[in-house]
Amino acid sequence: MKIRIFLVIALITSLNISAQNIELLKDWKFTNYDYGAAFQEDFNDTDWENVTVPHDWAVEGDFDFANDVQLTMVIQDGESTPKYRCGRSGALPYVGVGWYRTKYHISAADLEQKVQLLFDGAMSNSKVYVNGAYVGERPFGYISFYFDITKFLKEGANTIAVRLENYNSQSRWYPGAGLYRKVSTIKTNKTHVKTWGTFVTTPSVSKKKAIANLTLELLGNGNYTIKNEILNPTGKIVSSKLKEVTIRDSVLVHEDFEVSQPELWNLETPNLYELKTTILKGNDVVDTYTTTFGIRTIRFEVDGFYLNDKKVRFKGVNMHHDLGPVGAAFHRELFGRQMKKMKEMGVNAIRFSHNPPAPEALDICDELGLLAIDEAFDEWQIGKVMNGYSKHFDKWSKIDLSDMILRDRNHPSVIMWSIGNEIMEQYKHDPNKITAYLNNIVKSLDTTRATIAGFNSAKNAIDSGMATTVDVAAFNYKPGVYGAIRKQNPNLKFFASETGGAVSVRNSYKFPVVFDTIHGKRGDSSHTVVYPDGHPGNFETTNVPWGYPAYKEFAAQDTYTSVYGEFVWTGFDYLGEPSPYHDAKSRSSYFAPVDFVGLEKDKFYLYQSQWNKEKEVLHFFPQWTWPDLKVKSFPVVCYTSYDKAELFVNGKSYGVKTKQPLRQLNFESSNIAKEASGGGNWDLFKAYAIVWDDVVYEPGEAKIVAYDKNNNKVAETKRVTAGAPHSIKIEAEVTGLIEGEVGVYVVSVMDKDGNLCPHYNENMTIEVSGAAKFLASGNGDPTNMQNLSKPQRKLFNGQAVIYVQSTIKGNVIVKTTSGELKATHNQLLVK
Ligand code: GAL
Repeated sequence: MKIRIFLVIALITSLNISAQNIELLKDWKFTNYDYGAAFQEDFNDTDWENVTVPHDWAVEGDFDFANDVQLTMVIQDGESTPKYRCGRSGALPYVGVGWYRTKYHISAADLEQKVQLLFDGAMSNSKVYVNGAYVGERPFGYISFYFDITKFLKEGANTIAVRLENYNSQSRWYPGAGLYRKVSTIKTNKTHVKTWGTFVTTPSVSKKKAIANLTLELLGNGNYTIKNEILNPTGKIVSSKLKEVTIRDSVLVHEDFEVSQPELWNLETPNLYELKTTILKGNDVVDTYTTTFGIRTIRFEVDGFYLNDKKVRFKGVNMHHDLGPVGAAFHRELFGRQMKKMKEMGVNAIRFSHNPPAPEALDICDELGLLAIDEAFDEWQIGKVMNGYSKHFDKWSKIDLSDMILRDRNHPSVIMWSIGNEIMEQYKHDPNKITAYLNNIVKSLDTTRATIAGFNSAKNAIDSGMATTVDVAAFNYKPGVYGAIRKQNPNLKFFASETGGAVSVRNSYKFPVVFDTIHGKRGDSSHTVVYPDGHPGNFETTNVPWGYPAYKEFAAQDTYTSVYGEFVWTGFDYLGEPSPYHDAKSRSSYFAPVDFVGLEKDKFYLYQSQWNKEKEVLHFFPQWTWPDLKVKSFPVVCYTSYDKAELFVNGKSYGVKTKQPLRQLNFESSNIAKEASGGGNWDLFKAYAIVWDDVVYEPGEAKIVAYDKNNNKVAETKRVTAGAPHSIKIEAEVTGLIEGEVGVYVVSVMDKDGNLCPHYNENMTIEVSGAAKFLASGNGDPTNMQNLSKPQRKLFNGQAVIYVQSTIKGNVIVKTTSGELKATHNQLLVK
């Protein structure tokens, strides 16, 4: 992470203006119409829409399956004939052209400076113009890039115009559309620290002292003094050096700093240091540049991954870049919300699947103490979709991969660089040796982290040597072969880059619960149970053909402890990939423990009970309101961190139960090539959950009491049959916002005693006034086709979520109406 300080030092000479970042977020004009002349300076854009950046134009559109119907054969899903698929990229209108224009003002004095224009990501195929002149382009929508625009500028107002174009069949998921991340200008002296031009590593770390090594790239000309200061987490200067430097166009400076009693960056206390670089001419400040870094060591051994010499197993999740109903538009608060929820679940690692994230996402991982895998590509030369990255790979892969590393290599959270996910070259044994090519690019820029690639064919990756060309191999959906891989490759370092694959939606249960349908057979989707309403239940019984229930991975990881850990597919549900519902019903995914709007499914508590050692977990399901139940009994499942639990239904005990011991798994003789991930089984499930198999439903109260080893009652939780809908409860997730920030409200329909009405699915209208505007809403139902940006939403199983964006200081007022029910919330304050 590198930032230039927002600062103008008003000293006497022009040299004394140091680096200044200005975010260009307001006052953009936007259109979806492809005006040929829109790049020209005097083009009349007054009729265009006024927008602020980050902006995702497609998320405001209507869902329509015609937007992304594809006749395709997804080999990764085991298909051998093409099929029609809908909703794969989110069913939103993201294909087409978008133009953005804004004005950038500069004084005559500043024309002596250097100005760069930085995009944190532009979706996609961008072409950038300043004052009518072509500046440059970048096809890859996920990469940060910048241009030096100095020579295009004039005194006063300058016109920046950006043309973006998304193609049909460009993505396997919803890519978003537009200037969906920050845009900024960086104004510096002609002599300055190169953007992304610092690299701080900590090659030697002990309790007593650490060495921080700096490589610094300076651009410009002349003789200067370079001052480097290291600030500890409380902002105190703990090490400082001066160096005389002559710059002829560019120069690389190397310095070592000693930091005594270093405060390490680790998961519990993610301490961050800052390196402040100042270029001086005599006493005049020419440029300043701040690099945030952490002091920590990482090691990759055959028996595991080590952070600061302590073995850490990945309790990870994959995250796609969309942020639910606001689409791809990046909002720091919303990504922070996702990460806080993941931390609460016990997550310690994030894989940014399958592309570089917004830079702030990595800042948040640094700040919260989360490990991160920065991933470059989902395609190399062989494409997965017609117009994907394979079209750009030959020309751009070196530049894109290098920029990802240069931008991100100071983040202590980043421990691995992924050069690809499920790349098709696996199946051809990488004839063009691209694995080595990309691996070498990474190594030329950073040797302190491991390179990885996510493979879905363990056999091909190992046989071809691809798995050992990278430092650490990563396998998707292969718990059944860890034993065989280890046995045949005693020195292979590996982990699970994608796991899980049981599908569910929040608060949905299907009866009877049929456990013998859980074996998804690879390549045969007919073994996956698909419910006509698009609402699979939460018993971990239905998985996609290549997936399996969460607990099967726990069992494999608990058995084979040299595997570095797992990354669940995914932490939050995301737009697109509604597998296995490809039949014009659904537009977002079903895999995650947290739904599309950030509400927990039951599975959240399964992970939490295993992963979050700080938290006492006691959660059970199904919910307890079943007016039309067609079965006599069903299983009750409890996810808990306690030793024992007892279920009572209307006071009647169903007995005290414990989890069952994990039976010995032996996968040493499995066939790596043929292994189907398959389903799970009920008996394995009971090693991770307490289950009462046949519980007779009676309206009233179901209660679970937890006991410790000595049979002392330590906790209890209950579910009560809900009566008629009586009121709407609106809860703001935070009490205060800063102007411009996005706030989230959870809306629930309750009976007169305050119990959630879990079958309430009526429409609700939303009105936002006061200090914020309505931004979006959603309800976690992948089949909900209401426009995400309009203030109407059906509740789904009793709940929905509203997103507002604050505009001025004051109180935010949110009013909701659903039939006869009305509610107002006015406690959220914008400061
Ligand atoms: C994997 C792939 C992911 C996602 C997932 C679930 O094969 O790497 O990107 O598609 O399956 O569908």
